[in-house]
Amino acid sequence: MRARSEKSLGKSKGEDIFLNLLRRFGQFFCSPETWKVALPLLGLCGLVLYWLLFHWTSNADTAFVNPLTVPPELRGETIAGRKQFRLVVAPGKRAFRLGQSTRTAGVNGDYLGPTIRVDRGDLVDFTVINGLNEVTTMHWHGLHVPARMDGTPHQKILPGKTWTASFEIDQEAGPMWYHPHPHGATGAQAYQGIAGMLWIDDETSRSLDLPDEYGVDDFPLVIQDREFDREGQFRYRRGQQAPAFGDEILVNGTLGAMLELESRLIRFRLLNGSNARVYHIGFEDDRMFHQIATDGGFLNRAVATTRIILAPGERAEIVVDFSSGGEVMLKSFAEAGMLETVESFFEGAGNGDFNLMLIRPQATEQVSHSLPEKLNTINRIDPSLATRTRLMRLGGPISDQGPARNGGQGTELGGAAGARGGGGRRGAGRGIPINGKVMDMHRIDERVRLGDIEIWEIENRSGQMHPFHIHLVQFQILDRDGRPPVGAERGWKDTVRVASGETVRIIAHFERYSDPLVPYMYHCHIMEHEDGGMMGQFLVLEEPAELASLRGAPSVVLYITGLACSHCYAQVELFDQALAERKIELLVITPQAEDASRLKLQGRLISDSEHQWAAWLGLGHLEHSHGTFLLDKNVTERWRDTGFEPFMDVEALVDRLTALSTSSQQ
Ligand code: C2O
Ligand code: CU
Ligand code: CU
Repeated sequence: MRARSEKSLGKSKGEDIFLNLLRRFGQFFCSPETWKVALPLLGLCGLVLYWLLFHWTSNADTAFVNPLTVPPELRGETIAGRKQFRLVVAPGKRAFRLGQSTRTAGVNGDYLGPTIRVDRGDLVDFTVINGLNEVTTMHWHGLHVPARMDGTPHQKILPGKTWTASFEIDQEAGPMWYHPHPHGATGAQAYQGIAGMLWIDDETSRSLDLPDEYGVDDFPLVIQDREFDREGQFRYRRGQQAPAFGDEILVNGTLGAMLELESRLIRFRLLNGSNARVYHIGFEDDRMFHQIATDGGFLNRAVATTRIILAPGERAEIVVDFSSGGEVMLKSFAEAGMLETVESFFEGAGNGDFNLMLIRPQATEQVSHSLPEKLNTINRIDPSLATRTRLMRLGGPISDQGPARNGGQGTELGGAAGARGGGGRRGAGRGIPINGKVMDMHRIDERVRLGDIEIWEIENRSGQMHPFHIHLVQFQILDRDGRPPVGAERGWKDTVRVASGETVRIIAHFERYSDPLVPYMYHCHIMEHEDGGMMGQFLVLEEPAELASLRGAPSVVLYITGLACSHCYAQVELFDQALAERKIELLVITPQAEDASRLKLQGRLISDSEHQWAAWLGLGHLEHSHGTFLLDKNVTERWRDTGFEPFMDVEALVDRLTALSTSSQQ
């Protein structure tokens, strides 16, 4: 420092003054006196900033005078024992503000869709008509349905086309919902207004003395934030991975919503239908209310609380006592943790301080329902019954996504041609990974055995909260960072908040609907994260019947495409001979069994025309693949080679096999 300033003496006067200033500046900042004053000042600034961040976004200027829209109910028409539902997805227009017409989209209407009402045991046909000029899909969020009926990115509905989802309502009463799920465009379509609630009733829900008169003492409340431009059009802003936030609140598509209701016990079925915002919901007067249901159904007992936190995709049913009258504002409070607030601020908006809906209780003669003591019987799933723990690492680096070889985990269905990101944004905008991978529609990430109970350990390594959603199942939370759940966290869930740095373990029973070809999704329900690739695919697979007979000794499985391929022919001949001599069990599997039966094998030949084995072995749709697999005596895969050319080194394979049987004897 000194040498440098002496040298500079010879330089111009301007430089001299500058260096002098710099020195003084340095002295000033190095003096402890300065810091005695500066530290508290900085602290104060920090506090003010913190407060500002909390209250940055607010809709305090909005007048709450517009009567709440209550979506119509849709109960379907029963034809030949099946309930028929017709859902037309189409663009529309709505005047959220007087004199301004906003371009929207909705289901059987201009914005949002009807509340679909079904009963457990119903056989339903949901016919979806795509009146948009782009591809869409329709997903039944929270429902147990076959993969082909799930409305994921794989069940595309082209513009002008129709798709029918047929299944049985086979789960307990609860507040489900539906929304589009086209890969890369879910956020944009939902933002236009395509979504709705789907409520299931069952014996329990009918027997409970809860408020259940739709639009009278039982209301859906779909909460969404939106940003409007000067012309009153939605402004759907999303950057690379940046979630879309808005600074106005719509409840059931009503801006500045006001609800006059009878001053008695009222039930609200809340859905966070926003793309990204998390709400900390409560009443302006901090009154106590009761939560009676979570995503997947009733809690065992009502949980008294003053707040409900809902991330995108999450639902809650609450019962509130308005018998003392007096108007009150339903609010979302700026109560997120400091880290969460700061993070969400840098992504576009703070968690915010929002008015949601003004409630005006009116005098009534009607007698109030009561709140039942006991609502449900949820049996806790015993973790010792879990066959495995599957890791889901959110965030962290994106690892190479080349075809999985010898891994047994990730499986490349589309081979080398599999498009990265599966139609989502590519290149620069690669999303937040799960287990190091971003979504690829041609890749199966996980294979779950039908009937298994599994623990999924969701570890959030990213700097922000992610609501993790799994299709097909309702699950239970086992613990958060080792702490067992309390209160409403003990209810059925299909979407769970996982805070930055947190690890949440959930347990689920994959008890039905196997499909060797069509996968289910798991993903972050912040829609821009999902669209950016924060999603993976799992197959639910029935264990092939022949597998059981291989137990007890190590075995070799060859998957061949058929004998038309000279490679296959050569490999099968070689292995059949060599393994028979050594008395090693060989299983040859092919979709073309008839033609292969001409071979007269000593090993067993199995037909796989249903692709069950291909899926089980993780070969999936790979049409020209060859697979060589080594199974141990517990039929667990210990080694594999898959690819265009079959594995021919029979000696090396026998060595491995010998090593395996000696090691398993010890
Ligand atoms: Cu609500 Cu896969 O979605
Ligand atoms: Cu996310
Ligand atoms: Cu071949």
